[in-house]
Amino acid sequence: MAVPARVVANAELTTLVDTSDEWIRSRTGIGQRRLAAPDEYTSVLATAAAQQAIARAGIEPAQIELVILATCTPDRLFPATACTVQANLNLPHAGAFDLVAACSGFVYGLTVGTRMIQSGAHRTVLVIAADLFSHILNWHDRATCVLFGDGAGAVVLQATPEPLGLLSAVLRSAGQHEQHMAIAAGGTRQPLTPELLDAGGHFFTMNGGEVYRHAVRDMTTSSLEAVAAAGLTIDAIDVMIPHQANIRIIDALANRLMVPRERIFVNLERYGNTSAASVPLALCEAAAAGWLNAGSRVLLSAFGGGFTWASAVVRWGIPTTLVP
Ligand code: UT7
Repeated sequence: MAVPARVVANAELTTLVDTSDEWIRSRTGIGQRRLAAPDEYTSVLATAAAQQAIARAGIEPAQIELVILATCTPDRLFPATACTVQANLNLPHAGAFDLVAACSGFVYGLTVGTRMIQSGAHRTVLVIAADLFSHILNWHDRATCVLFGDGAGAVVLQATPEPLGLLSAVLRSAGQHEQHMAIAAGGTRQPLTPELLDAGGHFFTMNGGEVYRHAVRDMTTSSLEAVAAAGLTIDAIDVMIPHQANIRIIDALANRLMVPRERIFVNLERYGNTSAASVPLALCEAAAAGWLNAGSRVLLSAFGGGFTWASAVVRWGIPTTLVP
């Protein structure tokens, strides 16, 4: 994982918008977030996370045959940021593409990467999730700017004869809700004009209440579907790693799924909502904190713009001795 060095506590945001540490903590569970410096853009954090993942996997970069970068905040609209990462890492044999599924991007990417390996098309796949919401937020909109942080996480996937890795995945979307989390201008539907720029059309906007309601419902149902598709029941799940957007969403999930809170890994307080990076940041910290053992059954679940949502069950396949 890679996060910017700059830590911004809730108190600092009270100088920008009419908010308070108490409001942010009680409504979201967030205490601080990491915000990128101007020279820390998406490909920079994505490359740093990928370098760590490659080193920890003990593989040669030349083995990587595909780079999937899940992001909705690319370096620029075109070309794919995944190609910049491929060049940064000097991967001579890799295809590369961006995958846009907002906060669900890592679970989507993990699924696509796994399926590419299972199809026999690729042997080693690098899946990265990186988002820098600090660049698309309106820092005068208290309804959004207090919620997000920047970060990147990465994993290396390889074929194994053992029953490890992705056991099941449920990917869903509901584009009729596209307006609830969006950047209105800057694409082909509304190309950016000076007027749209003045009106803030290039900023991210969100209808938080609507997102909240759908997130709780859809992460619950897709989690249950993923667990059933893996041939398991919810009590067989050792660790749940949900998208880290709001502690109240995570608590509601715990109640509905009847997963004991002590099995749910949460690092939201320190990073805020890092969009696609949130699940791999939590996965990385859960591994480092000794939550994951060889054979652990891990439930991942995320929800984001689109709407998109995704849940997956993973059988952790790395001996803890390899995880620093
Ligand atoms: O990553 C993609 C998924 N995203 C999410 O999952 C986000 C889901 N949504 C949420 O987490 C919550 O809906 C929010 C945290 C965004 C908002 O929490 P809420 O409990 O739904 O608050 P609200 O929007 O209903 O606002 C309650 C009050 C309002 O004031 P009034 O109308 O009651 O006087 C807001 O104006 O809180 C006010 N408010 C704030 N006050 C202080 C909104 N933002 C702030 C703020 N500081 N930053």
